[in-house]
Amino acid sequence: MKWNLSISFTTVGLLLGSLVSATPIKRSAPKPLQKTAEGGVVYELGNITYFANTKYPKAVLDAAHFEGDGLTLVPITVIVANQSTISGEYLKTTIAEYLVGDDVFSEDFLGSLYLSSTIRNTKLERSALDYIQSLNVRRFYLDSNVIHHEKAAIMLGGVSEKALPSGPYTITVLGASVSFFETYRLYRDEYRDFITGTYASNDGTDSFTALNVMCSKWWDPMIPIPSRIHFWRDSRPLAGTRVAIKDLYDMKGLQTSGGSQAWIRVTPIANTTAPAIQRLVDLGAVLVGKFKLAQFASGANPWDWVDEHYPFNPRGDGYLTCSASSSGGGCSIAAYDWLDNAIGSDTGSSMRRPASVSGTFGNRPSQGMISLEGAIPLGWAQDTAGVFSRDPHQWVRFAKIWYGDANLYQDTSITGLPPLNVPVDSGFPKRILYPTDYLPLANPAAQAILETVLSNMTQLFNMTIDRLNFTTTVTNATIFPEQETANFTNWDILGSFGGALSGYSQQVDVMGPLLTAWAELFDGRFPPVDPAWRQSWTELAQSPVNQSMYDSALKQKAVTTKWFNENILFETPESCSESMMICDIGTGGLPSFREEGLNENANASFLAVLPEGARITCANICPQFACADYTIPLGQVPYQSPITMVTEYYPVSINMIVRRGCDFMLFDLVEKLADAGIIRPVKTGRTLF
Ligand SMILES: *[C@@H]1O[C@H](CO)[C@@H](O)[C@H](O)[C@H]1NC(C)=O
Ligand SMILES: *[C@@H]1O[C@H](CO)[C@@H](O)[C@H](O)[C@H]1NC(C)=O
Ligand SMILES: *[C@@H]1O[C@H](CO)[C@@H](O)[C@H](O)[C@H]1NC(C)=O
Ligand SMILES: *[C@@H]1O[C@H](CO)[C@@H](O)[C@H](O)[C@H]1NC(C)=O
Ligand SMILES: *[C@@H]1O[C@H](CO)[C@@H](O)[C@H](O)[C@H]1NC(C)=O
Ligand SMILES: *[C@@H]1O[C@H](CO)[C@@H](O)[C@H](O)[C@H]1NC(C)=O
Ligand SMILES: *[C@@H]1O[C@H](CO)[C@@H](O)[C@H](O)[C@H]1NC(C)=O
Ligand SMILES: *[C@@H]1O[C@H](CO)[C@@H](O)[C@H](O)[C@H]1NC(C)=O
Ligand SMILES: *[C@@H]1O[C@H](CO)[C@@H](O)[C@H](O)[C@H]1NC(C)=O
Ligand SMILES: *[C@@H]1O[C@H](CO)[C@@H](O)[C@H](O)[C@H]1NC(C)=O
Repeated sequence: MKWNLSISFTTVGLLLGSLVSATPIKRSAPKPLQKTAEGGVVYELGNITYFANTKYPKAVLDAAHFEGDGLTLVPITVIVANQSTISGEYLKTTIAEYLVGDDVFSEDFLGSLYLSSTIRNTKLERSALDYIQSLNVRRFYLDSNVIHHEKAAIMLGGVSEKALPSGPYTITVLGASVSFFETYRLYRDEYRDFITGTYASNDGTDSFTALNVMCSKWWDPMIPIPSRIHFWRDSRPLAGTRVAIKDLYDMKGLQTSGGSQAWIRVTPIANTTAPAIQRLVDLGAVLVGKFKLAQFASGANPWDWVDEHYPFNPRGDGYLTCSASSSGGGCSIAAYDWLDNAIGSDTGSSMRRPASVSGTFGNRPSQGMISLEGAIPLGWAQDTAGVFSRDPHQWVRFAKIWYGDANLYQDTSITGLPPLNVPVDSGFPKRILYPTDYLPLANPAAQAILETVLSNMTQLFNMTIDRLNFTTTVTNATIFPEQETANFTNWDILGSFGGALSGYSQQVDVMGPLLTAWAELFDGRFPPVDPAWRQSWTELAQSPVNQSMYDSALKQKAVTTKWFNENILFETPESCSESMMICDIGTGGLPSFREEGLNENANASFLAVLPEGARITCANICPQFACADYTIPLGQVPYQSPITMVTEYYPVSINMIVRRGCDFMLFDLVEKLADAGIIRPVKTGRTLF
C-alpha cells in the first residue's frame, strides 16, 4: 500500500468535462493515520476515524477505455439504484436517506461516486448529471448497466449488488482496475467493555480478524462498524445487525481468551466459528467485537478481576458494577448506540444479572435452546446462550430468529432432560407467582415501580397474583424417591449435584487441559488464574469428580426439573406455563458498585445477596430447574452517589420465569407489554429514559 495521498485530479477534470462545478464544495481529504499488521489502513476523514480493509477488497472492477492514475485511498459513495430511470431528485433523496439512516456515511464520501443499478439499461437523466455536478463529485464512475448520453463518466465493469451494495467505501486505482475496500467507522470503546474489535476478513474462508487499533490517549480498543446502508436491501432476517460476542465463543481466525492470559498461552486460534454464532452470521448479523467476561465465566466480583481491567457501566455515576460473567455485554449495550445486541452466556446468572445492573433486556433461555459447541464451558448441562438488547421489540425479534432452528437445540445427552419442545402459539399464564421470600424489593421506590407494572400487567392479561414461600415449598416437597434423599437434597444446586455438574465440565474441558499444558511448559507450575479459580481448582484437583458422579448428578437434575414442571410452573391446555414466577436477580433497586467498600453502605448492596430464610438466590432457580428466566428493565430510582456527590439513577428490573420450553410464549408476553406501553425501550447512557 502506497502512502502517497497527494492526489491529482487533473485528468478527472478532463473526464468530467462540463461536470466541474463553478463553486466547489469543501470536502475533507483523508488523512492516513496508520497501517495495521493484518493489512488495513486507518485514516481520518473530517473528524471521524475510518478503517479500510485493503488486504481483501470487496470488489475489483475494470474501467473500460481508461488508464488509471494511481489514486490511493479515496473515499467513495456507491449508489446501486433500483429504478429504471435515475433522476436528480432520486439521487438527492437517496443521499439524504444515507445521511439520516447511517452513522458511518458522511458527505465527505461524495468526492467520488459510483452509480449502478439493479435494473438493466437504467436510463440516467440529465437532471441526475446536473445534481452530481452540484455536489462537486470529482470522479464519477458509472456501471455499464446504466445508459447515458454524456461522456461524463468512467464506465466500470458490472458487479452484483450482493458483491458491492450501496454505501461508503474506499478505493484505490491501479492501472484500469479499481479496488473497492470495505470501510468501517471506528468507534472508541470508551467504557472499555471490549477485549477487541473484529471484522470479517473477507478472504473467502468466513474468518474474522481482530482489529489491531486502539486509542492510546484514552486506552480504548477501537471497534469497526460497517455502514448500515449495505444491508438496506439485504433480505436476511438479521442483515446488518451489529452484535458483540462474549469472548468465550470461538470465532474462526480469532483467539478465544475466556478472560485468561494463561488460556491464551495454551490454546490455538479458533479454526471454526461456534455454530450458534455462525448462525448469526448466516442470518446477516455483523460481529463487531468480543466483549469482556469474568474469567472462564465465573461469578467474580469486580475487585477480584486480575487478568482483565473490569469493564465500566455507563449508568448512574459510572462506577456501578457490570456484574460478573457477561458483564462487558450488558454494559456495552447500555453504553453504545452504534451497537445493537450482545451475545452472552448464562450458567448461574451471567446474562440476567448483567442485564439487571445495566438496565437492559437479557435472557437465560430454557436449557437446551441453542448449541454451546465452540464455547468454553462452565457447566455443560447448565450453560445457556442469551442476547442483550435495549428495545423489547428488537430483542424479541432477534431472539425468535436466532433460536428458530431446532437443529441447534442441545442434545438430550448434554441437557440430561427430555427433548426441548418450544410451542409458538401458546396462551399466556393465568397467575403470577409472587415469592414472599424474595420480594418485596429492598428499595421501596423500586417496589412502587414493580407494583405499578404488576397492576398494569394483571389488568392486561387478566392474571391473578398468588403469593408463595418458594423456599418452604421446595423444602417441603418430596422430590426424590426415599432411597435417594440421602445422596441428594431438594436444594442440590448448592451441594453435590451442582458442584459435580460444573466441576466435571471444568475438569475435562478447562482446568484439566490448562493445568496439564501449563505444568509442561513451566516445570510443574500452577497457571496464574483469578482468585476464584485458584481456590476452587485447587480443591477440585484434590478431590476430582468422576464420570459416574456427573451422570448421577445429571439424573438428579432431570428429577428436580420434572417435579418443578409438574408442581410449580406446569403446562395446561391453555398455556405452556400456567403461571409465571417473578423475582429480582438484582439488588432490589439499591446501587451496587465496582469498589468493594462502597457496597458496605446501608444504601448500597452487594450482588447475589441471599435473602433471610432462603436457601438459594433466585438466580439459581432456573439453573436448577431448567426454566426460562428473562430480565426486564422497568424503571429507575434515584440514589445519592458517593462518586459524583449528586443524585444519580439506578436501574430497576424484574425477572420473569416460565416453564422450560415456554420461551416464545414469554417473548410474546414481553412484546404485548411493550405494545401496551407497560415496558419501554431504554436508551444508552447515564439514565434509562
Ligand atoms: C464532528 O464535527 C461535527 C461538525 O463540526 C460535529 O457535529 C460532530 O459532533 C463531530 N463528531 C465527532 C465524532 O467529534
Ligand atoms: C428500492 O429500494 C428501497 C430501499 O432502499 C425500497 O424502499 C424501494 O421499495 C425499492 N424500490 C424498488 C422499485 O424496488
Ligand atoms: C481445529 O482445531 C481443533 C482444536 O485445536 C483441532 O482438533 C482440529 O483438527 C482443527 N481442525 C482443522 C480443520 O484444522
Ligand atoms: C379473568 O379471569 C377470571 C378467572 O381468573 C375469569 O373468571 C374471568 O372471566 C376472566 N375475565 C376475562 C375478561 O377474561
Ligand atoms: C412446610 O412444612 C411445614 C412443617 O411441616 C408446614 O408448617 C408448612 O405449612 C409447609 N409449607 C408449605 C408451603 O407447604
Ligand atoms: C444414594 O445412596 C444410596 C446409599 O445411601 C445408594 O444405594 C444409591 O445408589 C445412591 N443413589 C444415587 C443416585 O447415587
Ligand atoms: C467416583 O467417585 C466416587 C466418590 O469419590 C467413588 O465412590 C466412585 O467409586 C468413583 N467411581 C468411579 C467409576 O471411579
Ligand atoms: C441512606 O439514605 C438515606 C436517605 O437518603 C439517608 O438519610 C441516610 O443517611 C443514608 N444512609 C447512609 C448510611 O448513607
Ligand atoms: C419462608 O420459609 C422459610 C423457611 O421456612 C422461612 O425461614 C422464611 O421466613 C419464610 N419467608 C417468608 C417471607 O415467609
Ligand atoms: C399503569 O397503572 C398506573 C396506575 O396503576 C396507571 O397510572 C398507568 O397509566 C398504567 N400504565 C399503563 C401503560 O397502562
